[in-house]
Amino acid sequence: MVEMKPSSLQAMITVFFNFIVLPVLATADLDGGGATSIVFTTLGRSSYAFDIYSLPISGPANELKLTDGESINFNGHFPSFSSLSKINPLLAKHVLPSAAPLLHLIYVTERNGSSSIYLDTVFHSTGPRSTLEVPNESNGNYERVKELKRVQTRLMGSNRRVSMKDRPSLVGESLIYVSTHEDPGVPRASWAAVYSTELVTGMTRRLTPKEMADFSPAVSPSGIWTAVASYGEKGWAGDVEELGTDIYVFLTQDGSNRVKVIEHGGWPSWSDDSTLYFHRRCEDGWWSVFRATLPIQNGQLGVDPVAIQRVTPPGLHAFTPAASIANKSFIAVATRRPGNDYRHIELLNVVSNKFTELTRPVSPNVHHLNPFISTDASRVGYHRCRGVNNDGESNNLLLENLQNPLLPGISLFRIDGSFPSFSPDGERIAYVKLPGVYVMNHDGSGERSVSTRMAFTTAWDWKRKGVVYTSVGPTFASESTKVDIISINVDDDVPSYKQLTFGGENNAFPSPSPDGKWVAFRSGRSGHKNLYIMDALNGEAGGLYRLTEGPWSDTMCNWSPDGDWIAFASDRENPGSGSFELFKIHPNGTGLQKVIESGSGGRANHPWFSPDGKYIVLTSDYAGVSAEPISNPHHYQPYGDIFVIKSDGSDIRRLTHNSYEDGTPAWSPKYMKAVDVEWSNGGTQCSFEDCHWLNTSTSTITPVVEAYYSSAPKMQCAQ
Ligand SMILES: *[C@@H]1O[C@H](CO)[C@@H](O)[C@H](O)[C@H]1NC(C)=O
Ligand SMILES: *[C@@H]1O[C@H](CO)[C@@H](O)[C@H](O)[C@H]1NC(C)=O
Ligand SMILES: *[C@@H]1O[C@H](CO)[C@@H](O)[C@H](O)[C@H]1NC(C)=O
Ligand SMILES: *[C@@H]1O[C@H](CO)[C@@H](O)[C@H](O)[C@H]1NC(C)=O
Ligand SMILES: *[C@@H]1O[C@H](CO)[C@@H](O)[C@H](O)[C@H]1NC(C)=O
Repeated sequence: MVEMKPSSLQAMITVFFNFIVLPVLATADLDGGGATSIVFTTLGRSSYAFDIYSLPISGPANELKLTDGESINFNGHFPSFSSLSKINPLLAKHVLPSAAPLLHLIYVTERNGSSSIYLDTVFHSTGPRSTLEVPNESNGNYERVKELKRVQTRLMGSNRRVSMKDRPSLVGESLIYVSTHEDPGVPRASWAAVYSTELVTGMTRRLTPKEMADFSPAVSPSGIWTAVASYGEKGWAGDVEELGTDIYVFLTQDGSNRVKVIEHGGWPSWSDDSTLYFHRRCEDGWWSVFRATLPIQNGQLGVDPVAIQRVTPPGLHAFTPAASIANKSFIAVATRRPGNDYRHIELLNVVSNKFTELTRPVSPNVHHLNPFISTDASRVGYHRCRGVNNDGESNNLLLENLQNPLLPGISLFRIDGSFPSFSPDGERIAYVKLPGVYVMNHDGSGERSVSTRMAFTTAWDWKRKGVVYTSVGPTFASESTKVDIISINVDDDVPSYKQLTFGGENNAFPSPSPDGKWVAFRSGRSGHKNLYIMDALNGEAGGLYRLTEGPWSDTMCNWSPDGDWIAFASDRENPGSGSFELFKIHPNGTGLQKVIESGSGGRANHPWFSPDGKYIVLTSDYAGVSAEPISNPHHYQPYGDIFVIKSDGSDIRRLTHNSYEDGTPAWSPKYMKAVDVEWSNGGTQCSFEDCHWLNTSTSTITPVVEAYYSSAPKMQCAQ
């Protein structure tokens, strides 16, 4: 067998697509005041270390790790050999080993800080190390084979064109997938839509109607139909657990003949051209898998009703089903069973209704997500944490560089922590990693714990070197919760503290004035969270002014570098509703202006001015949700993305494209290069949590769930 040349491994294919060309934005004007950087946090993401694995359906032995341990790899698909033969011109560019490949895998990866779709051709290696047992597919025996090797082909995704990619499948010569590259132009509308790209020619077609969003596409075995989870015209209503989607079916060829076939459901998967499995949360509280029989005959969708049957019982959650035409007697599902804290893949024999555990006997204490079945139905793939790297070391990145879609003068980083802020010269970063506050050099070196108390938000004094403000106490708490602002002198041998507020009435989000004299903050001392300004050195004892007043919440303030404005988030237009808009106000209390509102009922939070004060970076649900939350680990706000807007509220631009919770951005006056700062912090990988709202208690249904379903048709989940 020929050993692969390293060059073939690196020979990534970049396909250029005839995407609709977006208006070229005048990027020269948006540098935020010279070359700068934006750093933000993504809840839990630094601890993901997903690889795609597979197990034979015959039993829980010899799990194969299919992807390479780089970045995170998820939402796989096994393409058919007939499809692969159609994209041969792409594969022919590689020098392949002479042996027949073990398998092909298409999947989503986030390597190089940008979402792409890869095709891996996986081989047995002939190297000296022989470490793996794999099944011989023709006789079912397990054989010792060499390590797996792979040739990688990038099918989709470009560093010049950042967007989220999801749920790929290869059908004939076309890749069907979700992408967020088109702005629907409507606040709070999802950008997720299904596209079809002919891989060899690059011809791309949008299959989702304009201004609609589709998630979780699945192509029927014949390739004729594609099913999606979609809100249709009603749009996203802000749901963050189960999405209130329905299932639509359309012609894969061009998106035509689009019909809603199932009310209330997500994550479709076909077992033949008229049978769909999907999941929904039932009125009894359990996520369950259903089978729908569509009136499809001779390639036409008839008018007869769709027959729907629940196939997984109450008493366990079963979701993200995968079905296969090669063996219609079983489906693969992810489950959460009472008494088990982990999500596992199980097979359900849909004839005998018996479950067979697949992953728990192999890795009991790891979450396994989003199963998919090989074309011959002999193997089930899924993604899970690899734990540690091949070299036995964990490699969380302290600062991870992300491709930045629009702003060449600005580098973008995800920090393994939250509430970052930069010293005025951009040399140092303070951030929170619970429980505690840390300071490090901007290149990630010299990390130092400066407080071990439960704290949130950080901000540096503009004049007094090494003075960092923070608020000590719990987040997301009521007006009367004990939270107070302190300043920390981080340059002292033993950091010294000064308490600046004393009432403990949720005094938080300190933001100092550029002249070093004042600190703006929010406080619940009146019974409502409003903004105040106090003396920077002596705190409220040295002088206290009230900036805003009203029976609502003003919070997350940020003082502009020219001193003229304080930006903040407020629910004043709809107090208590959970919706927040961005405002700005002069420090003397005049000039209140709304900067941006994310649609009706939306959120625009955590504003931070650019170093030249002309722009504000923020987190918002402006782009809706981008994937079904149950297909990801837990995110409280799975719609949060990072945006930049002019401080007059015009020209909003999306910086991050993912289905996670991105928040607490900060803007540095210094341009940080990935090569200088992106290095491993040796943190713990794989400590993420499964969706908190997957309640596995067998006690009676919660009132919340009952309320949720009181308006839904009661027959929907009948056995
Ligand atoms: C990803 O980044 C690495 C290191 O920065 C680089 O060597 C590699 O060429 C990049 N890969 C792609 C596909 O851009
Ligand atoms: C797999 O089994 C078949 C049939 O027994 C045999 O001919 C073949 O050599 C085996 N493959 C390998 C790689 O050993
Ligand atoms: C189909 O799947 C069932 C259930 O896992 C299994 O018992 C049966 O052997 C499979 N049939 C074939 C032909 O592989
Ligand atoms: C309030 O402050 C702004 C800028 O900071 C200034 O332009 C304005 O004149 C001030 N208004 C009053 C009444 O002092
Ligand atoms: C699930 O709901 C039950 C009933 O309301 C409640 O007692 C239980 O605490 C919940 N469990 C979890 C894990 O949230």
